Amino acid sequence: MRLLLQFLWLWASLMNIASATIAEPEPEEWQDITKVIVANITSLEDRSTRQAEEYSRLQDRLARSASWNVNHPRHRLLTALHGFSRYKERNLAEVKRWRNLYKHVPKAQKTVVERIVGYTRKLNTVEHLFEENDKIASEIVRYGLDYYNISQAELDEFVAEAEKEKKVADRTSVVQAMKHFVRDWSEEGFIERRDAFPCILGYLARMDRSEERPLRVLVPGAGAGRLGYEIDALGAFEVTLNEWSAYMNLVHRYATQGPAPNSLAYHPYIDWWSHHATTADMLRAVTFPDWIPSTSRVVMVEGDFTTVFSGEDSDSGTYDVIVTLFFIDTARNIMSYLETIHRLLKPGGMWMNLGPLLYGTGPWLQLSLDEIVLLSEAVGFEFEVDEADRGCGNPTPGVGGLDGKVRSLYVPYGQNARGLSRNAYDAQFWRARRV
Ligand SMILES: *[C@@H]1O[C@H](CO)[C@@H](O)[C@H](O)[C@H]1NC(C)=O
Ligand SMILES: *[C@@H]1O[C@H](CO)[C@@H](O)[C@H](O)[C@H]1NC(C)=O
Repeated sequence: MRLLLQFLWLWASLMNIASATIAEPEPEEWQDITKVIVANITSLEDRSTRQAEEYSRLQDRLARSASWNVNHPRHRLLTALHGFSRYKERNLAEVKRWRNLYKHVPKAQKTVVERIVGYTRKLNTVEHLFEENDKIASEIVRYGLDYYNISQAELDEFVAEAEKEKKVADRTSVVQAMKHFVRDWSEEGFIERRDAFPCILGYLARMDRSEERPLRVLVPGAGAGRLGYEIDALGAFEVTLNEWSAYMNLVHRYATQGPAPNSLAYHPYIDWWSHHATTADMLRAVTFPDWIPSTSRVVMVEGDFTTVFSGEDSDSGTYDVIVTLFFIDTARNIMSYLETIHRLLKPGGMWMNLGPLLYGTGPWLQLSLDEIVLLSEAVGFEFEVDEADRGCGNPTPGVGGLDGKVRSLYVPYGQNARGLSRNAYDAQFWRARRV
């Protein structure tokens, strides 16, 4: 039965891809068939007890309550679904804007531009590719509604209400979240993972553990989830992920639902025309997922890191390891992050961090590295100095001598592998034990 369903599922995915690439409308009944298969696979794919419990907590958090506002988890989820459901509309509006700008070019020049590079054709192609991408965005919505048990009617009503209040679907958050198909779930994104991941995975792989006594690992700020599944694949770890962004969670849920490897295609670079070496590169598709992880063990806890693990079901003092990757600089209040990491670890538990100090808009504290080290020590961490970390960067130089507590390495990040620009960061790596 299960094999049959998996076969059906595979076939369904392939058909979906087929229909996505040849630009034909999907028959209604076909969507229904896929939906049933998805529902069955999810329930049959032996969701573990831990997953079932977390799903029930998730549903409790998502339930509408007296305090209904933009910060309510269901409101944030519906806002993200609104964003994905308007992918085409929002992006085609942008193409239209580009077309209008092009109209300013004098006719004689336009003739040359058209004859030599066919700029109008490029605009047309991009428009078409946004329509292709929209099929993925629609699938994300469909899968999301199914997964979170939200009806299309509820979403429609939410969207109508929001648009009546002139709230525009968030194009940037959607586009940024979908770029994680590349970073986390494609072969092309390996360039972004290959330097950072081995530092963390290499250390974890050497930790003493067994299937009978797995180590509990928490990954806050898990994004689209890749690192967590790679940790799980090392064996004998019980992995919990945490992510606040509903956009990211939708992308993560969709990317790991189990389509065939590299069966989905997405054009990640058409929304931003800067730094492209060639137009062909800009237009190219990236296939995903390059890897189908086992999803039956990893648990994703959605919500704010500093609050979702507190309260009744508090996980205080229960984790052996907490891994933060490109995370700590996202804090509004980094002190709360430090305290939460400390509280959740077992005494003697390990905090492993890798990432830059690139503060966004409006953090309450913008600390330098030495200040983070001092404050972490004050909160109750002891940094490990280990020459065997040689594979992970070099000791961070700096006034006051960080005494080998922190290492720095270069991590290509957010990089279009064939583009002209290189957004890369010097990331810091450290391990510190809860005293
Ligand atoms: C598959 O899903 C359908 C609809 O949700 C349900 O009626 C059916 O019982 C499920 N089959 C199995 C084997 O779970
Ligand atoms: C889905 O939501 C409906 C109400 O909208 C509820 O009756 C049903 O029990 C929910 N299903 C699950 C699996 O939570």
